[in-house]
Amino acid sequence: MYKILKKRILAPDICLMEVSAPRVASSAQPGQFLIVRVGEKGERIPLTICDFDPVAGSVTIVTQRVGASSRKIFALEEGESFNDFAGPLGVPSEFIHEREEILKEKKFLFIAGGLGTAPVYPQVKYLHGKGAHVEVIIGAKTRDLVIMEEEMKQVAARVHICTDDGSYGFKGLVTARLKELLDGGARFDQAVAIGPMIMMKFVTLTARKYNLPLIVSLNTLMVDGTGMCGACRVTVGGKIRFACVDGPEFDAYQVDFDEAMRRQSMYKLQEKDADHKCKIGLGNGQ
Ligand code: NAD
Ligand code: FES
Repeated sequence: MYKILKKRILAPDICLMEVSAPRVASSAQPGQFLIVRVGEKGERIPLTICDFDPVAGSVTIVTQRVGASSRKIFALEEGESFNDFAGPLGVPSEFIHEREEILKEKKFLFIAGGLGTAPVYPQVKYLHGKGAHVEVIIGAKTRDLVIMEEEMKQVAARVHICTDDGSYGFKGLVTARLKELLDGGARFDQAVAIGPMIMMKFVTLTARKYNLPLIVSLNTLMVDGTGMCGACRVTVGGKIRFACVDGPEFDAYQVDFDEAMRRQSMYKLQEKDADHKCKIGLGNGQ
């Protein structure tokens, strides 16, 4: 059992949980994810890792209450436990293989959409620790849905907040702020976009015009997380890939986003039904 050490509400339906999972904490790397289960017969739910502390033996996750599975996680309180907390899964971010002297010379831009801000944090923290220049665009529908702004400011050189309704920061989508930055002469060696699939598709279309190298993290359906079931199948560079073992991060320009979005929406109706017994988990805590 994996005990919840701390729970904090970040926004009306979004909570952060610090969970005791020493083995996961000791081997986690930026870019990886987990599959969790609440209750003995609970569904397997993929979640991105928001932070990890090998010394304290804890892993931090962020969940938004939107579907049946995420409601069960959200309802858990401090002192209660997850039955399973399997991970770390997936391939870590490519930059962890780069030498510190190289990273120090590089400029990174992260584009985080909504809940996708959570998995961006460990990547920015890692790069900051290596001396890289990192800027982050955080997009949310409204001011109260902007999460982890203060944490991100501790590790990023600049944080650009955007809200769709203009209630905080730049008024507009992350793509509009991205365009404004690049048109203003800002240059980056590498960009990483993490958020809703539709956002990652449009960030890709924008970034392509500026020849900006871009990585995306695909929040596909997942079941086993071991490359066996095929639920997380995506097409990348014309080839079949499995997000759980070949990803979740891929070169954005090689991803077939339209197919990925069609597959992602396959089980949306069942997930909305709180009593359904389907074993398919939806991406990242939905
Ligand atoms: P959201 O719908 O509020 O969107 C967040 C921001 O993304 C918006 O404010 C906007 O700036 C941008 N955006 C959205 N649609 C866009 C478009 N068509 N063009 C350009 N920019 C656009 O986000 P949310 O409600 O927090 O959504 C959560 C989603 O994030 C879920 O789908 C969840 O699965 C996903 N998620 C993904 C990952 C991942 O690893 N990729 C991790 C966590 C969550
Ligand atoms: Fe089953 Fe990836 S989740 S193959």
